Amino acid sequence: MKVVILKNAAEVAAYGAQIFIKTIAAKPNAVLGLATGSTPLALYKELIAARKENKVSFSQVSTFNLDEYLGLAGTHPQSYRYFMNQQLFDHIDIDKARTAVPAGDAVNPLKACAAYEAAIVAKGGVDVQLLGIGRNGHIGFNEPSSSLRSRTRVKTLTRATIEDNARFFGPDEFQPHLSLTMGIGTILESKKIVLLATGESKAEAIKATVEGPLSAACPASALQLHENVIVIVDEAAASKL
Ligand code: GLP
Repeated sequence: MKVVILKNAAEVAAYGAQIFIKTIAAKPNAVLGLATGSTPLALYKELIAARKENKVSFSQVSTFNLDEYLGLAGTHPQSYRYFMNQQLFDHIDIDKARTAVPAGDAVNPLKACAAYEAAIVAKGGVDVQLLGIGRNGHIGFNEPSSSLRSRTRVKTLTRATIEDNARFFGPDEFQPHLSLTMGIGTILESKKIVLLATGESKAEAIKATVEGPLSAACPASALQLHENVIVIVDEAAASKL
């Protein structure tokens, strides 16, 4: 596991974006694993800027997002599909038919999870997977106690995650407590993994990820099993290392 400690969130985003830009330069039809949450937003802005300056093209790129709320269609403003369109896909030259987010409105979610796994395999696997991290060490929506070999499946969110994400929902808005998420086993099959964390609130989770024992209590600690992981953090998120 390589750990890169940078001054602030802007540097983290710029450093992370370069990894994606270089991956696409080397393989124009790269398969990217993408993430939601507030942490990747600045990295997506970097990618949009690089596209505008013609430094990268996403025309042959495919993407798979980590997770989605179960019960929300992609047209719902709180869905992760909507988020990805708004924050990235609508601003770059990507073919949306090649962008995948788990189907939150699937009639049969279990079938949708199996189909998602099959679609990743059909594309030859994820070349670079972007991850954020929850305060409790979750990656995607793999909450503490998730099996370290889990596959894409339906997961119940913990109270902590529901509370952390409540800020995105209006006071009377339905907030799902279930999700579809790539499993930890799925994530570990990516060829390269880039985890970003910024801010003091992530310091404990980063310590457990990097220095803690391999444990389902901190799902991100499973990344210790992968041979090509880069953890990019600002000084605040690194403050407990
Ligand atoms: C959500 C997402 C995760 C993300 C986490 C942290 O729960 N499912 O993929 O890493 O939030 O979000 P933030 O970056 O906003 O702290």
